[in-house]
Amino acid sequence: MNVYLDNAATTPMLPEVIDEMLPFMRDHFGNPSSTHAFGRKTKTAIEQARRRISSHLNVAPKTICFTSGGTEADNMALHAGVEQLGCKRILTCATEHSAVLKTAQHLAKSPDVTFGLIALDSSGKVDIPSLDTTLSDGIPTLVSVMHGNNEVGILQDLEAIGHCCRAHGALFHTDTVQTMGHYPLDFSSLPVDFAACSAHKLHGPKGAGFLYVRDGLRISAHIMGGSQERAMRGGTENLIGIIGLAKAFDLAMEHQEEHAAHIRSLKQQMVAELRASIPGVEFNAGSDTEDSLYTVLNVNFPQHEKNGMLLFLLDLDGVACSGGSACSSGSTQPSHVLSALGCQSDGRSSIRFSFSRLTTHDCIHHATQAVARIRGAEVLA
Ligand SMILES: Cc1ncc(COP(=O)(O)O)c(C=O)c1O
Repeated sequence: MNVYLDNAATTPMLPEVIDEMLPFMRDHFGNPSSTHAFGRKTKTAIEQARRRISSHLNVAPKTICFTSGGTEADNMALHAGVEQLGCKRILTCATEHSAVLKTAQHLAKSPDVTFGLIALDSSGKVDIPSLDTTLSDGIPTLVSVMHGNNEVGILQDLEAIGHCCRAHGALFHTDTVQTMGHYPLDFSSLPVDFAACSAHKLHGPKGAGFLYVRDGLRISAHIMGGSQERAMRGGTENLIGIIGLAKAFDLAMEHQEEHAAHIRSLKQQMVAELRASIPGVEFNAGSDTEDSLYTVLNVNFPQHEKNGMLLFLLDLDGVACSGGSACSSGSTQPSHVLSALGCQSDGRSSIRFSFSRLTTHDCIHHATQAVARIRGAEVLA
């Protein structure tokens, strides 16, 4: 049995998404910038996709700027904040995705820009009083805080952080790559200026996503050389990716509550089975609690001779999971997120299991049996 439990890295595309994309690979190939019928057909399809996506977020279509995915959207927000909107400081968290952390560090190489880390409380959430104090110095600031952490599942309070930013005139970007399509997000009421989305985290295609840019924020070309995306991002659009993204988003939101309930029950099952078969098992950063991203479970296994081989042995047993985020899973460096949260301890080993609505209870059982077998623990029937 092959069991895929690495859905925070990427999700399989749904057949309905592929079906929606196929006509745009086979028949409708016009360049959306062409004024003839072929171009008008694809231009219309892109604008319909934009309308559908924006309606799920309760905002105007013009606030959606299509990108190549989450990394580009994060880069675009941070660059725009500093290079176009007058921010002199970027504040973010040590637990952010590298798309934010590395970009912030890069931008802070400019003598006019500084970079700082926001204090987190003991559960890894932004310490709002401390953020409030920092922002009260009046330095024009862009705050970037992810909604759901891709490694350990900490969920941040977008409303509280956004209100704190607004109170001090700071801009607020949020990386919602792990939560778009999984949680209802209403950007007409949330105090958010930018938000990043990636299609392949919600059963859409790779290489497509968008940046939400609050209505009223004027930003100019992030990629130059064309007037696509209201001149914010030049270059012929990823038509097929955009079509797939819109369909994936529709399908995600159509039965969002049912998907969430199913995935929560998978996570509870995994927690219960691991607790029953692995004495001393723990869960990093409260990822076993209700107040955590329901798609991610970060397990902290007690010391064992096979710990160093666990990922590899699970893979041999048909179980795909990850030791950190996808981009760092090939690296021997400890995860910067687990280090920042103080979750690394000698001899213990952390593994991230992440679920989707296609994951079944049998998949979970197979994975927990495999873990128990590898560790010579009791294998639950
Ligand atoms: C939280 C987060 N932000 C950004 C990204 C990057 O998204 P993409 O793969 O679309 O560039 C990822 C993907 O791993 C992610 O989990």
